[in-house]
Amino acid sequence: MNHLAEHLAQGFSQTPKTLSSKYFYDATGSRLFQQIMGLPEYYPTRTELAIFQAQGAAIGRALAAGAGPGQPLAVVELGAGDGLKTKLLLRELLAQPVALTYVPVDISPSAIDELAASLRQELPSLPTEPLAAEYGAALTTLATRPGAKAVLFLGSNIGNFAPDERADFLRELARPLTPADRLLVGFDLRKDPRRIRAAYDDAQGVTAEFNFNLLRRLNAEAGANFELDAWQHFPDYDPSTGAMRSWLVSRRAQTVRLATLPGQAFEIAAWEAIQTESSFKFTLPQITELAAGAGLRVVEVFQDDAHDFADVVLAVAA
Ligand code: AVI
Repeated sequence: MNHLAEHLAQGFSQTPKTLSSKYFYDATGSRLFQQIMGLPEYYPTRTELAIFQAQGAAIGRALAAGAGPGQPLAVVELGAGDGLKTKLLLRELLAQPVALTYVPVDISPSAIDELAASLRQELPSLPTEPLAAEYGAALTTLATRPGAKAVLFLGSNIGNFAPDERADFLRELARPLTPADRLLVGFDLRKDPRRIRAAYDDAQGVTAEFNFNLLRRLNAEAGANFELDAWQHFPDYDPSTGAMRSWLVSRRAQTVRLATLPGQAFEIAAWEAIQTESSFKFTLPQITELAAGAGLRVVEVFQDDAHDFADVVLAVAA
């Protein structure tokens, strides 16, 4: 069975029905996400960029601190995307007295190819080992690669995990780390709930297109019969839990069929909602607790002036 069809069948057997946001990122989805990152309402990307611009040198020092002079340091980035912010950090790291290699990992082959091409142009002296793969492959790289590692997990990608998956993932990520290694995680912090919601409900409708792209992809790759005008993009934010959620709401009763799943039909009621993404927002005490649960300690916290976003350097607890 087609893996997307299998995913839909599994997600549609749950209440509420779900589809995973990891399937957003085909070539079109990656392009839409790049557009989202430049939207006026979507503050996380430019805020994290501002943190790197203002404090990049200190972050670079913190990440290289475990590697001895002249020793190798592999920067392994999970969900590298277009690498725009990372290039800033890489420039800072190139100024450190270590032998740097960059290992960007991303689920989208098109994103990873474009990133590799841009790095050849912009940072030709930096050895780069791009990997088009899910996060699991990055964990294998971490476990098998000798020398110090700086693991980057930026952009509040960690917010896209459900709370139990988030704790498990961080534990998995921490397991192969040695005291010489550092982990830099970007966390979107709690703030005015209206600002958070607006970041996922932009006026130009790019985030809605990003959400609909999941249906387009299911139509193209799993032979689904989704009619896009029968769906509405609906984001909601719960300030008590920090859960920002995106939904696709069905405007009418409809039956979903997939050419790759003959004989099966999925009934959707009028105004039924399918959850497609969670983008959790965090508090600093919650981050310390999350790190401790994974056997990690907080080494240093870098924030913007408004405390909208935090880039946190973590290391294995003593
Ligand atoms: C990739 N990830 C951190 C983004 C987020 O904010 O959850 C994806 C996104 N979804 C809608 N807008 C942006």
